[in-house]
Amino acid sequence: MYRFLVSGGQPLRGAVQTASAKNAVLPILAACLLTEETCTITNLPALEDVNMMLQLLRSMGVAVERQGRAARITAAGRVSTEAPYDIVRKMRASYYVLGPLVARFGRAKVSLPGGCAIGARPVDLHLRGMSGLGAKVTIEHGYIDARAKKLAGAALMLEGAKGPSVGATANTMMAAVLAGGETVISGAACEPEIVDLADFLNCLGAKVSGAGTPEVRIKGVRRLSGAEYRPIPDRIEAGTFAAAACITCGDVEIRLCRPDHLTAVIDVLRRAGARVETTRSSMRVCCKGRAKACDITTAPYPGFPTDLQAQFTALLSTAAGTSVVTENIFEGRFLHAMELARMGARIDVKGSTAVVHGVERLSSAQVMASDLRASAALVLAGLAAEGTTEVLRVYHLDRGYEKLERKLSKLGAKVERVADST
Ligand code: EPU
Repeated sequence: MYRFLVSGGQPLRGAVQTASAKNAVLPILAACLLTEETCTITNLPALEDVNMMLQLLRSMGVAVERQGRAARITAAGRVSTEAPYDIVRKMRASYYVLGPLVARFGRAKVSLPGGCAIGARPVDLHLRGMSGLGAKVTIEHGYIDARAKKLAGAALMLEGAKGPSVGATANTMMAAVLAGGETVISGAACEPEIVDLADFLNCLGAKVSGAGTPEVRIKGVRRLSGAEYRPIPDRIEAGTFAAAACITCGDVEIRLCRPDHLTAVIDVLRRAGARVETTRSSMRVCCKGRAKACDITTAPYPGFPTDLQAQFTALLSTAAGTSVVTENIFEGRFLHAMELARMGARIDVKGSTAVVHGVERLSSAQVMASDLRASAALVLAGLAAEGTTEVLRVYHLDRGYEKLERKLSKLGAKVERVADST
């Protein structure tokens, strides 16, 4: 186990490059199960979640060869159709094998992922997608068991009470590409990661259109081929660096990112007083002086992403004035507020709203990371705090940020990874 020691007070300056998007890569890796031909996924980020997905595929009998940043994946021969609890409990995104397995092999047994630090994580919409395509779905002994001789295209409404679901849209799309006939998904998630998955599936020979809109159409095909594919850049990592630039009153160029995937975030950065300049594939974020308070409401894409709420709450905790942060996607996603309070932040959480009274200065403390994005928020707070902050349990960070301490250090931050002594 590792912890980070973060010494605050250095304005970040310079250029940093984002990696490929974790949340695009994970379903794409699972989608490699849809074909017996080899798929080569390039520019894979060095993340624990990526290692875990590759480990899951290997455990199922899939051949996985890593060559530097690429992985060659071949799901030929005997493939096990079970995703065991031991792996799924470590990474919920393991459920992305559900759709591809039922579609190609007619059977999937996938452990239910269970609880999560950011709130309830139901899978009813994933199951609605599978049964809507004709699979017989049962839940027994903690496992989802889905069976179908051949899936059949259908008109499906996948929006739930909390809005569209990224995971259910992706799983259903992956199942429908090999189903007989046409599938129309209404209430589909519009996230760029869904578009990227559709682009990958189409490279394999699938017929998916409308991805990125609430209505996705899929014409089933008999078989898919292999392909080489490079996933999109990580918009959440880019947004995290942007918040880091602001909280330290720095000037950072974020390279290899997609500002067009970050319009709601750029809007908040500007309202907070930052200067943001964009090109097609980079953005420069410069903040002279303390940020200004502004309100944030998380929403499905193209709204402000829940995966940046914690990092921007950290930023607003040092802004001038009072901000209201409303979390509409995962109601329990405010654990970072309690840890930020230990650093002197003044945040009142009531239900899905956090009222953030900006303080002039945070002070260092030992703090505990509770989930991936909350961990990033604590590191950001540490960059702005007086003294040295210890962020414990950074294994959460390693799930989704590639070498965060090295990237921040290159920008002038003082961040050190040290092994826990106990
Ligand atoms: N929901 C349901 N039923 C379902 C599925 C979801 O009610 O069957 C609800 C959820 O409880 C939530 C809302 O729908 O309130 C949206 O959840 P969604 O399914 O879109 O989330 P997800 O697919 O489980 C992905 C990302 C999350 C990100 C969310 C929202 C991956 C691997 N995970 O999760 O990323 O927060 O979309 O954008 O893509 C992260 O990277 O830190 C992370 C948590």
